[in-house]
Amino acid sequence: MKKTILLILVCIIIFFLVNPDIISQMAFKIKFGDDLILYVVSDLHYLSEKLYDNGEAFNKYVESGDKLLQYTEVFLNVFKEKVLENKPDFVVFAGDLTSNGSKVSHMDLSDKLSEIEDSGTKVYVIPGNHDLNNTRSIYFDKEEVHRSENISNEDFVDIYGQFGYNEAAFRDKESLSYLAKPNDKVWLLMLDSTKPYPYSGGRLEKSTLEWVKECSNLAKEEDVKMIAVMHHSLVDHSKIINFNYTIDNSKEVVELMHKSDIDIVLTGHIHLQDIKSNEYEGRTLYDISTSCISIYPHQFGQLSYSPWEGYEYKTMKLNMEEYAKTNNMKNESLEKFEVYSENFFKVNCCKNQKNCVEDIESLSEDEKAKVVETVSEMNKMYFAGYRNEALNKITETEGFKLLESIEDCPVKRYAMAILNDERADNNILIINFAE
Ligand SMILES: [Fe+2]
Repeated sequence: MKKTILLILVCIIIFFLVNPDIISQMAFKIKFGDDLILYVVSDLHYLSEKLYDNGEAFNKYVESGDKLLQYTEVFLNVFKEKVLENKPDFVVFAGDLTSNGSKVSHMDLSDKLSEIEDSGTKVYVIPGNHDLNNTRSIYFDKEEVHRSENISNEDFVDIYGQFGYNEAAFRDKESLSYLAKPNDKVWLLMLDSTKPYPYSGGRLEKSTLEWVKECSNLAKEEDVKMIAVMHHSLVDHSKIINFNYTIDNSKEVVELMHKSDIDIVLTGHIHLQDIKSNEYEGRTLYDISTSCISIYPHQFGQLSYSPWEGYEYKTMKLNMEEYAKTNNMKNESLEKFEVYSENFFKVNCCKNQKNCVEDIESLSEDEKAKVVETVSEMNKMYFAGYRNEALNKITETEGFKLLESIEDCPVKRYAMAILNDERADNNILIINFAE
């Protein structure tokens, strides 16, 4: 028996010795995700449950806004379950961590992020325009709204020290940017693109750009990939709404990203699920904007990286209904969350489009209703990452034909721009190094 096993082993060794190519193919045939998986969450706008009740003031605030703030705690819990289940290597939060920058929200969020880290997944954060020195930090008490304590840049570093700042390999002196080296394959260039409150736009200062060059030199010396993360858009994601979304010095930063051999910049802020690329001297740079997790369809991004294969980005949705069922939560909105949230989006995130349609005199009331339904559906799909031919079913509706027939107006321009974008599906991107 022993002789037979020995003979088989010798045959296997001889087989591989005479076929060395097979060994090399086996060694390099590592599939996406075998190496490294990162989750990216953007624009959580977390509001601590300590800061609101179910009173008139809070309900009015939610109804006048675009985010389901009453469920940010639940969004975070559902996301945490995804992390515990799939165990990504790390999670990055691309800014606008909190709804209005209240210290209480930041502190409670930090505790929640600790729970994620306890599961073995490293968390990294950067601030967004809502998070620092926010003078609109508020809390709600029945029919009243009161000011709540906000936080400074220094407080941010203290509160989130465990999530990037304490273990940063290299910090920028002039901003809250830092370089994280979670492993020897990929470094994270966490960029603070915020301007002082109340400015909602973004930019990277000259000194920060010099610091990025130093980070880039280090990465090149050690032959490591850098993935950048920042709150504001690196390049324009929309033909219509870019002011205060794209960083002011986009052109300069794009060139620096190329020269730094960065392939991907993960961003948020505009709340759109959108991927744009930029070509420079034969290489391609991608700005992947992950949509707001607190707005329909409540998704986050998964980025897989293999040094041998390339990158794969795809979105994953939070399953709120399943969470409500598993946890026996008796809440009608949560139990039918898909319909509830979709309806909230169409009412609360399509107000501008609706008002614009109401002003079109050539349409009857019935026709206006059809156009509003079509435009709201298009807008919902647009924010979820779908454009062009992915909206073919909508362009066959009567509402769309009516929209086509009217004179040029903002809502028509907006809708038509959705059908003429860079890519149809912004929920997936595969970058293959072999190509
Ligand atoms: Fe933002």
